[in-house]
Amino acid sequence: MVVDHLIDDRRTRIIVCCGSGGVGKTTIAAAVGLRAAERGRHVVVLTVDPARRLAQSMGLTSLDNTPRPVTGVRKSQVNGTDPPGSLHAMMLDMKRTFDEIVESHADPDRAAQILANPFYQSLSSSFAGTQEYMAMEKLGQLRRADEWDLIVVDTPPSRSALDFLDAPQRLSRFLDGRLLRLLVAPAKLGGRTGLRMINAGFGMVTGVITKIIGSQLLRDVQTFVSAMDTMFGGFRERAEYTYRLLRAPGTAFLVIAAPEPDALREASYFVERLERDEMPLAGLIINRVHRSPAARLSAARSLAAAETLQGLDESESTALGIAALRLHAERMRQAESERRLSRRFTAAHPLVPVAQVPAQPDDVHDLNGLRVIGSAFAALSKNWNRQDSEELADTASTVAVAGGS
Ligand SMILES: Nc1ncnc2c1ncn2[C@@H]1O[C@H](COP(=O)(O)OP(=O)(O)OP(=O)(O)O)[C@@H](O)[C@H]1O
Ligand SMILES: [Mg+2]
Repeated sequence: MVVDHLIDDRRTRIIVCCGSGGVGKTTIAAAVGLRAAERGRHVVVLTVDPARRLAQSMGLTSLDNTPRPVTGVRKSQVNGTDPPGSLHAMMLDMKRTFDEIVESHADPDRAAQILANPFYQSLSSSFAGTQEYMAMEKLGQLRRADEWDLIVVDTPPSRSALDFLDAPQRLSRFLDGRLLRLLVAPAKLGGRTGLRMINAGFGMVTGVITKIIGSQLLRDVQTFVSAMDTMFGGFRERAEYTYRLLRAPGTAFLVIAAPEPDALREASYFVERLERDEMPLAGLIINRVHRSPAARLSAARSLAAAETLQGLDESESTALGIAALRLHAERMRQAESERRLSRRFTAAHPLVPVAQVPAQPDDVHDLNGLRVIGSAFAALSKNWNRQDSEELADTASTVAVAGGS
């Protein structure tokens, strides 16, 4: 996959970075955003929970739920005469986003009533799925604002990548009222059933439940429901609007995975799901792949050389040489196993383009680090399977140049 084609194509308006927890969604989203801005696009990156140092380097020092300009973006690298692009970034504040929906849909008194409601407060900060819903909500808002020609969306750190697609509908179904209405009819249902449902529906920490005694909670729900009455239906509509946005031409999904069995299995599910939902998949990015700068030296030959050296002498430099050869052999084995996993993915999804990003020696926490990741998209845009060993060797040296370990 050539990521540059995707970001240079002005028809691309939204890029969503999905994947299971910890695979590098936030990093890749920021790197794609920066690269696109430096190639002349006007970009906003919507991040969820970025690491503190990365957030700081993008000028995100407070969680104020609005896009902030990122300084340090270079003038267009594509063509010196192109007008320069720009980059804005924001961190999603899910509670603030939820509050804003309430404020814009209810009159001030009613809004205040809802915002002060303890049930609303725990719903807006702890319902499993609120973050996914609010990320989509924010995406819809950014799209409607129409101030940027490209929106790059990072997704919440859920265990499963599918949560991003499923949670909003779950939440909007819930807010649409049927379940809520059941809850506020405790007399018919019996209070305990109602509470059990709350427990099941919320996955709320028990602390929250016990802090609010049962009957009080139900009263809160009741007031919440009557206060929210005017907004019911609105939630489903909004979720559907964003869902449509995700299927519209101009949207592209990048699935991120680590070169590990679980992450790639999760990526497979997600790819199949996108296909089923007719959502536009741009490709898979395998992040943090390991390569050796001396790819022509096989693990076996490296170990054999270490053996030979072993008997040679006891000097420090020999010991160092042996250690380096063994490390190299280990790295080669890891790279081979990562390649096997990637081939398995490609065998199952032959039409899905794959790109790889090498593991960096350090965490990625500044614009330069993001640039290195971005140039890896460009340098390593070929499918592993189509590379013969010659190309692999070349790739390894590119990685070394790009600063990979
Ligand atoms: N190619 C890479 N090389 C080295 N470190 C990386 C690379 N990609 C990401 N990282 C580091 O890995 C950590 C996790 O990355 P990131 O926060 O982007 O993952 P995530 O998928 O957004 O996680 P979460 O699911 O928790 O939101 C960060 O410290 C980041 O700097
Ligand atoms: Mg993240």
